[in-house]
Amino acid sequence: MAAKDRVRAAVVGTGGIARSHLAAFRAHGDQVDVVAAVDVDAARLREFCADAGTATPYDDLEHMLRERRPDLVAICTPPSLHADQVVTVLRHGAWAWCEKPPCLSLAEYDRIVAAERAGGPYAAIVFQHRFGSAAEHLRTLLRTGELGRPLVAHCQTTWYRDDAYYAVPWRGRWETEGGGPTMGHGIHQMDLMLHLLGDWVEVRAMVGRLVHDVATEDVSTALVRFASGAMATVVNSVLSADQVSRIRLDCTDATVELTHLYGYRNEDWVYTPAPHVTDERRVSRWRSPAEDVASSHAAQLRGLLAALREGARPACSGPDGRRVLELVAALYKSALTGLPVRAGEIGAEDPFYAAMHGGMAGAQPGARPGTPGEPLGTGAAAAGGRVPAGGNGASIDGAHGE
Ligand SMILES: NC(=O)c1ccc[n+]([C@@H]2O[C@H](COP(=O)([O-])OP(=O)(O)OC[C@H]3O[C@@H](n4cnc5c(N)ncnc54)[C@H](O)[C@@H]3O)[C@@H](O)[C@H]2O)c1
Repeated sequence: MAAKDRVRAAVVGTGGIARSHLAAFRAHGDQVDVVAAVDVDAARLREFCADAGTATPYDDLEHMLRERRPDLVAICTPPSLHADQVVTVLRHGAWAWCEKPPCLSLAEYDRIVAAERAGGPYAAIVFQHRFGSAAEHLRTLLRTGELGRPLVAHCQTTWYRDDAYYAVPWRGRWETEGGGPTMGHGIHQMDLMLHLLGDWVEVRAMVGRLVHDVATEDVSTALVRFASGAMATVVNSVLSADQVSRIRLDCTDATVELTHLYGYRNEDWVYTPAPHVTDERRVSRWRSPAEDVASSHAAQLRGLLAALREGARPACSGPDGRRVLELVAALYKSALTGLPVRAGEIGAEDPFYAAMHGGMAGAQPGARPGTPGEPLGTGAAAAGGRVPAGGNGASIDGAHGE
């Protein structure tokens, strides 16, 4: 599209996160008009359109695409709808900006990429935590060797979710959410970790369902080795009363630590020099990003709009958007098989390509012998054949056997 043209944006799914998209489009109101919104819930749709001011309401995506011909469509629906809706948007020639998790499996993700066209339209995933100024600054420091060599990382998404949260029908089920906190919550922090540290090569993991009556895990832990040789621990939980999102990175010359919950500013990052680093001006440079941009949908949208105008592949699309999804799939595969998993090994023939549980939602390796537990995917929430049985039948090592 021409640089001077205004971008016609639409929103599909007008629930909670759609408000962040609306705020982002407003933040770029000098170049974006929100022309349409789609939802199957008439009341929500009405309220959203009233707030947006300029959006025409639709209850059908294809109808909206034919009539309004948007340039960019934000997909803010439950995860099981993402792949089909993104492909539909791309086939109508519009770019898609899809909420995390991108879709339910690597197979679905590859279907999305196959529907893209060179020069656009492309589909970018919402990973807004990459785009705060502090993360971009740290990435530059790492790339230029300012902090020395990355050695050890901790990546923590320890949140708290109650039963009311899981009362929403699509949550906590493999076939509608694609996984538990690994897929739905920790994916943000893990994506940021990969954005900072680069390619991972191996993961070893555990998953458990310790509290909630869900079909997926409610906690996962993992060890990750990077191509650089750096090693990381990862924890994803919805059981943690003292909620925090954290990334900590030890390099040869410094430790840098981000502590936040759902978003950060520069002040949330702490740089600690190693004892041998005595140059105060150097340390001061680490602590002084050029600007203070909060991580947010609006921050990500800035680059996406530029890519749209240039017809260039945006960040968080194609292989760049797939990398963390492959790590999540590998984490589940490792946890459910009890084996280490290497990057690249989950090909189209692998059961973990088509589904995050790999058909092994019933497996829970590593349980204490004799624990009267319950395999993942067999609780009341999993009843009715929604989750494939199978796996090795080992029982969950949980404090809350049902
Ligand atoms: N990036 C983030 O930080 C972040 C935060 C929260 C949620 N999310 C993600 O955003 C997505 C939506 O989450 P939410 O909390 O807003 O959910 P929500 O339930 O509040 O909203 C989803 C909306 O989609 C609508 N919908 C359902 N089927 C539809 C269809 N066929 N066509 C059009 N609309 C339809 C629902 O009626 C509802 O209004 C999820 O993938 C979630 O993981 C991302």
